[in-house]
Amino acid sequence: MKNIELTHTDLMVSKLIYGCMRIRGSWSDAPLSEAEISAGLRSVRAALDAGITFFDHADIYGRGRCEELFGHLWKRENIRRESLVLQSKCGIRPGISYDFRPDYIRESVEGSLKRLQTDYLDILLLHRPDILMEPDAIAEVFAELKASGKVRYFGVSNFTPAAQRLLQSRLPDTLVTNQIRFGLGFTNPVESWLVAGRNNEGMSTRGEGILEYCMEHRILPQAYSPIVYGGILEPVSEEDPSSLRELKTILRSMAEDKQVPADALALAWVMRHPAGIQPIIGTTRPERIQTAAEALGITLSHEEWYQLFITARGVPLP
Ligand SMILES: NC(=O)c1ccc[n+]([C@@H]2O[C@H](COP(=O)([O-])OP(=O)(O)OC[C@H]3O[C@@H](n4cnc5c(N)ncnc54)[C@H](OP(=O)(O)O)[C@@H]3O)[C@@H](O)[C@H]2O)c1
Repeated sequence: MKNIELTHTDLMVSKLIYGCMRIRGSWSDAPLSEAEISAGLRSVRAALDAGITFFDHADIYGRGRCEELFGHLWKRENIRRESLVLQSKCGIRPGISYDFRPDYIRESVEGSLKRLQTDYLDILLLHRPDILMEPDAIAEVFAELKASGKVRYFGVSNFTPAAQRLLQSRLPDTLVTNQIRFGLGFTNPVESWLVAGRNNEGMSTRGEGILEYCMEHRILPQAYSPIVYGGILEPVSEEDPSSLRELKTILRSMAEDKQVPADALALAWVMRHPAGIQPIIGTTRPERIQTAAEALGITLSHEEWYQLFITARGVPLP
């Protein structure tokens, strides 16, 4: 596994991040069973064996049970806390609102620390922009969490560049990432490079400018759902729209030519972008976690990257 310096921090992190959203399969409130703990352990152990040390959480995953499971595991396995980089998120109150009010952020961090059985989070992300957010109040609570040693660094997720710039304007330290959805099944964040000076009819530009903002400020973006979204690794089906069928076919044939697994190739495609994107993988299967690590050894040419991109967008370049 390649380790990289996380810009704007003193952290060394694995290039791939392991996402813990699925380590407890169900979102039920029931206590963790021994079977669930064993299954979670297999996934997390496989990630560690693949050299992944950077783990992504959120207070809401599995209604807190994913953090709780992870807390059991690293304690049970006697893993040194300093060998892990733990990132969690707060701000989504399912079915109620997005909420960045200071008390809510404080309460959420306390809950994550307790469930993860740790004294500090390496990184806390605000999960989805709260339209009613008050940047000065967030700055105060961030300063408090940092001074108390409970959170070392802060970042955002699903933020537009404008919202990120606004929050950043009140903070002394750089927000270390923006975690967004990106992959061959969801190429919107790079579509914005193509829209200047043309009619963008029919093209969604959600994600516009995020990668540019991150590159401008030397922030490493994180890409969630790089595999699952769009069903790009599912078998080709007659029911697929023709563009998806073509993408699946080209992805597989390019993978065969390069003698690499198709899922690793899809991750390599994400990492080929010069923003230094860190994919967050979410498979729970040990063999797929191992395969994902192969992505770091895959080189994609300029032409290959575009071939996959053009196929994924299903429309020729302007
Ligand atoms: N910030 C946000 O708003 C946000 C949103 C969503 C997720 N996230 C984070 O991102 C992480 C990753 O997201 P994700 O789990 O959606 O990512 P993903 O790696 O794209 O998807 C994982 C899913 O795809 C399946 N899968 C993986 N490899 C496959 C393959 N080769 N063939 C067929 N299916 C395959 C997995 O099934 P198996 O387990 O059976 O392999 C699993 O259901 C999450 O754990 C979470 O930490 C953040």
